[in-house]
Parts: sequence; structure tokens; C-alpha cells
Amino acid sequence: MTPQIGNLIYQGKAKDVYETDDPEKVLVKFRDDITAGDGEKKDVINKKGYYNSIISAKFFEILQAAGVKTQYLDLINPGEMLSLRLEMIPLEIITRNIAAGSLIKKFPFKEGQKFDPPIIQMDYKSDEFHDPMLNEDIAVALGFSTRKDLEIIRKTTLKINQVLKEFLEIKGILFPDFKIEYGYDSQGNIVLGDEISPDTCRFWDNETCDVLDKDLFRKGESGVIEAYQKVASLILDVEDKKRWNLDF
Ligand code: TMP
Ligand code: ASP
Repeated sequence: MTPQIGNLIYQGKAKDVYETDDPEKVLVKFRDDITAGDGEKKDVINKKGYYNSIISAKFFEILQAAGVKTQYLDLINPGEMLSLRLEMIPLEIITRNIAAGSLIKKFPFKEGQKFDPPIIQMDYKSDEFHDPMLNEDIAVALGFSTRKDLEIIRKTTLKINQVLKEFLEIKGILFPDFKIEYGYDSQGNIVLGDEISPDTCRFWDNETCDVLDKDLFRKGESGVIEAYQKVASLILDVEDKKRWNLDF
């Protein structure tokens, strides 16, 4: 049954969150806005919200099937996701399998260097403070989480990486790194929230090494939406396209 939509309760840089008639559930609307540099570089890319929502829905379903608790309940339409209401933790949990991006700017790693085991990093989610990297002591002192819950987050993140890396490998996509966010549900459980999409992950075509993610926008290159569509085409099967009535 489709819920009744209420007030806008949160507006991020690329998504809006609405109350529903069920206090435990929210509707997440994926917008076409795209930003980089803590919101300084901005644009609107037609259908970006559409692709990010279906890609996220697919990943959340795969993770739920693997036993990971996620916020995802249903993709009502492309662009509109019914989700569990969470109290979000302002931490960006970044997993790195291959050295790229800010890591090679900040540390003497070689681009393309592989990490096994992967590196897990935490950044404070704050445009004002420019998402600084932090550690467990700082996150606990700021009251964002507890040591016990940060350990759950670490273990869950390693599992998420394993599940998605294996899935993407079969689809011909390399998974250098990604960012996820967690929140607390009404019972105080740690639950995966937000999105998992080309806005929040690095995806490289395994054969051509083409970039299939937001790095194209960050670097001012063309073909952003074509890259997002390619990720969707590679990961979705015929059944997904049918049930979500997708037009590509
Ligand atoms: P980074 O190499 O720029 O630190 O990015 C690491 C990963 O995190 C990459 O997959 C993109 C993602 N990411 C976000 O989701 N939001 C952000 O604000 C940034 C900077 C990166
Ligand atoms: N969080 C950054 C911003 O919105 C985007 C990024 O580089 O992913 O400005």
C-alpha cells in the first residue's frame, strides 16, 4: 500500500526526505542536483536521481539478502524510495580496495595500489568543516556513536564491501572505493542508510578502465549520465527492468 506523504523533514544536496503517515517510515526523493567540493560546484543532470535510486535499490536488496540491515523498504517509483526512518550518524564511512581520490593526495600511496584487507576510514560529514577525517576517539567524544556501535559499523562495512565487490566483479565492474552512512532505528539498532550509487562510489569498467561515477563531474568531464546509465544496465537484470518499469 502506498503511504500518504507528509512534510519535508530533511533536505540534503541530492535528496529530500519526507514524513509519511507511518512514523517509522520516510519517503526519500532522489533529485537531479549534483554537487562537488562541499557544494561549491553545482549542476542539474537530467535523470541522475532516477538512476541513483534504482542502483541504490538494487544494492540494498542484494545486501538485505546477505543479512545486512538496511533502511530500504521499497522503490515505489524510480526516484522515490520508501525507507525506514533513522536517526543518522554524521559519519561518512569510506572503504578503499584500490588507492584513488583524496587518499593519494593526502598520503604517499601509488594510484591503483590494491589494499587487501581494505582500508576503512571515517570522515565527519560536515560541509562547514569540509568533511575532515576523524578517528574512533573523536567520534565517541563528539557523541556520534559508541565504541561498541563503531565496531558493529566496521564489521558490517567489511561485509558490505565483500558482498558488493563480488557482485560487481561478476558484472565487469571494479570497485576501488565507496562511502556509506549509518543511522539508528527506533530500537537503537545500527542500520545502513542513505544511498549506494555512482555519486557515492568509484566504479571502473573492468575491461576499458573507463570511469563510471561522479569523478567525471568532479573533473569537469562529459558523459556523466551515460556512465550512470551504464552502471544501471550492467547491474540490473530483465526482471528488475520489468518490475520497476524501466525505460532503458
Ligand atoms: P575521496 O577519495 O574523495 O575521499 O572519496 C572516497 C569515496 O567517497 C568515493 O567513492 C566517493 C565518495 N565520496 C562521497 O560519497 N561523498 C563525498 O563528499 C566525497 C568527498 C567522497
Ligand atoms: N560531498 C561533496 C559535495 O557535495 C561531493 C563529492 O565530492 O562527492 O560537494
